Amino acid sequence: MATSLSKKTAIRVAVTGAAGNIGYALLFRIASGQMFGSDQPVALNLIEIEPGMDALKGVAMELDDCAFPLLTEIVQTSDLAVGFKDVDWALLVGSVPRKKGMERADLLGINGKVFVGQGKAINDHAKKSVRVVVVGNPCNTNCLIAMKSAPDIPDNQFFAMTRLDENRAKSQLALKAGVPVKDVSELCVWGNHSPSMFPDFFNAKIGRQKATDVITDDKWLKETFVPDVGTRGAAIIAARGASSAASAANAVVDTVRDLITPSFGGYHSVCVISNGEYGTPAGIITSMPIKVDAVGNWRVVEGIKLSEYAKEKIAASNQELLDEREMAFGQLGLSI
Ligand code: LMR
Repeated sequence: MATSLSKKTAIRVAVTGAAGNIGYALLFRIASGQMFGSDQPVALNLIEIEPGMDALKGVAMELDDCAFPLLTEIVQTSDLAVGFKDVDWALLVGSVPRKKGMERADLLGINGKVFVGQGKAINDHAKKSVRVVVVGNPCNTNCLIAMKSAPDIPDNQFFAMTRLDENRAKSQLALKAGVPVKDVSELCVWGNHSPSMFPDFFNAKIGRQKATDVITDDKWLKETFVPDVGTRGAAIIAARGASSAASAANAVVDTVRDLITPSFGGYHSVCVISNGEYGTPAGIITSMPIKVDAVGNWRVVEGIKLSEYAKEKIAASNQELLDEREMAFGQLGLSI
């Protein structure tokens, strides 16, 4: 394995489902420096369930074969106590993916309990400063389950991923407007990572203009754009026969990188613990616009003006999260 050229201490990153499709698209990007920077060594704790350990060995061999200068160590394990030991980041990718015809919430009964065990193991073995990003679906509620199962880790260190939805939404607006995707900014996806999510096109910008001044087709925005973003995951499953992997991994890289990078100007969508911002019910993990300050603390962006249409959409998505919480917590015996 390559030795690091940098004198910085390695960031230790646990990845669950490390031999899965998203894991395979993610690990090489972390090890190459795309997540934490080109002079930041990383150690990878690769976690798999027992039947995946042979495949994991192959993934670790390939990581070795890349001779990444920044990769200082690879741990391969199915033991959560080993996998989360002293980690700085826990990327909870592994879970049973949905199949055609399912909604993400249908996975609650299957995946929910996994996040109890992972939350407990993170609580007991990770650094207290660990930051946790949940990707496995339904990611908002799984994140809440992990957070509740890790009482010693501050709630504001738990995140679930809607960056994939933000990226999807930006691409759709760019295509419609005929501009490069980099010109689309300030597009927050609010609520649940489910078809009820709301990509807020009212506040989005295309170049320096309001997106709604560039794309004036209100019917397209409300009746095509919003539902298409919300059901893009299902469309990928229908087309590929498997759920998104490379784009999901890319969004994990974007999420983490932007959580450790001061945000100059724009903001990004991340699901975080609600303290009642924008009328969101406190205590759920819901997607909001996040900014990061110069010392790496995140906060929900204040002062965004939401239209009545947006408020209704966001409230409906958050109600879905309350319902998911009630169902999952009832099944798992967790208390709110
Ligand atoms: C996605 O949005 O592509 C993922 O959450 C997978 C899924 O089930 O939609």
